[in-house]
Amino acid sequence: MLEFDFSLAFKENLKSGISFEELMEHSGVAMTALRKVIDSKPGFIRILGTDKYIKEVEDIADWLGKFDNIVVLGIGGSALGNIALHTSLKPLNWNSSGYDRKGKARVFVVDNVDPEFLEATLSEIEISKTLFNVISKSGTTAEAMANYLIVRGILDKEGLVPADHLLFTTDPEKGVLRKIAQEEGIKTLTIPQDVGGRFSVLTPVGLASALAEGIDIRALYHGARIALERYGNLEARKNPLIINALLHLDAMKKGKSISVMMPYSNRLYLLADWYRQLWAESLGKKYDLDGNEVFTGQTPVKALGAVDQHSQIQLYNEGPKDKIVTFLRLEKFLTDYEIPRLYTDINALSYLGGKSLSTLLNSEQRGTAFALAKNGVPNLTISFPVLNEEHVGEFIFYYELLTAVMGELLHINPYDQPGVELGKKITYGLMGRDGYEELLNEYSGDHWG
Ligand code: PA5
Repeated sequence: MLEFDFSLAFKENLKSGISFEELMEHSGVAMTALRKVIDSKPGFIRILGTDKYIKEVEDIADWLGKFDNIVVLGIGGSALGNIALHTSLKPLNWNSSGYDRKGKARVFVVDNVDPEFLEATLSEIEISKTLFNVISKSGTTAEAMANYLIVRGILDKEGLVPADHLLFTTDPEKGVLRKIAQEEGIKTLTIPQDVGGRFSVLTPVGLASALAEGIDIRALYHGARIALERYGNLEARKNPLIINALLHLDAMKKGKSISVMMPYSNRLYLLADWYRQLWAESLGKKYDLDGNEVFTGQTPVKALGAVDQHSQIQLYNEGPKDKIVTFLRLEKFLTDYEIPRLYTDINALSYLGGKSLSTLLNSEQRGTAFALAKNGVPNLTISFPVLNEEHVGEFIFYYELLTAVMGELLHINPYDQPGVELGKKITYGLMGRDGYEELLNEYSGDHWG
């Protein structure tokens, strides 16, 4: 199980802040929010009660196994979960040409419409040995659809049968992808209607590419189910979810508008990217309070230890006191190096000799955490004993549940994202989509030059 250390988040070890006992005065309200979220059974919880989505993916395992490469075409919640699973659960050089993957697929995620990025991926792969998994719940997202159309054009040009190289992961009934799939006999996987993009990594959205690259998706589920059992039931004082929710709420009330996640592990780094979307899109909301607009949310930032000690930590220690920091740390790495005992007469180097590289990395994490506390910056550490499916599943579900509880505590709906619509619509207008002319006129003129 994951381990949580909150000791450097409390007044006792900070120059200022809240004490554990003061925090616990609010535990009742947090426990009520937790119960309310669990009892309302949102989609991301409901899916753990069934193996339906695991089986749906396992049913096409043999077909997935035929491809050397899986290329995901999607964006936001339809991409970040795939990236998080791939980077955290596979070795960092998994996609390298020389790496022995024992017949499992390489996984690429094209989540932007940057032509150079798409080209870089396409030039890495042999199209005839590739499956393109087009993931879009709505089936209308411009970025995913544009990349699909380009790939579709390439398949046609190369004389390949599209249905042999395409998989659509989309809404069970609605959307153009579902329609095209039905008309053209393209295989599909389901994104449950009650699971929003950023909460969908444990649906076929994340599971298909994970299975194709040899990730144990049942163990992922096991970890998530352990998390539901553990964080859904522990009493407040012992519940890392309640403590974390209240700490972040307290931080927000005190003007700490930035939540940094700083993994000390390259494989953990992009879990922080997944977290960034979850926290930002779910909690960054405006609402009406007695006729006044209230703006809420916290800006999530990702940083990498030890790299960003040489870039960000000066600011975190001595800059504005507007941050709460969550460290992720890994106790046992897949591999390690012992630093040779060379230059024993040079003090600046000799202390490193005989130590492992991971000991240095984790000591830096500890050192940074203490330094932040000394500078009055509340921080907490989540430790992964090892980086495996069970712990990643637990981490994912812990954060999904935490985010939903935060939504409840902030009195907002964490599952929608109305604030992204306007920009999308103006883009439609700029791209000449029918029906958006008026909107474009409204925003054009002076603004567009
Ligand atoms: O979390 C969300 O709902 C969004 O980030 C979506 O995942 C993202 O906009 C992509 O949407 P779709 O899957 O409909 O293409």
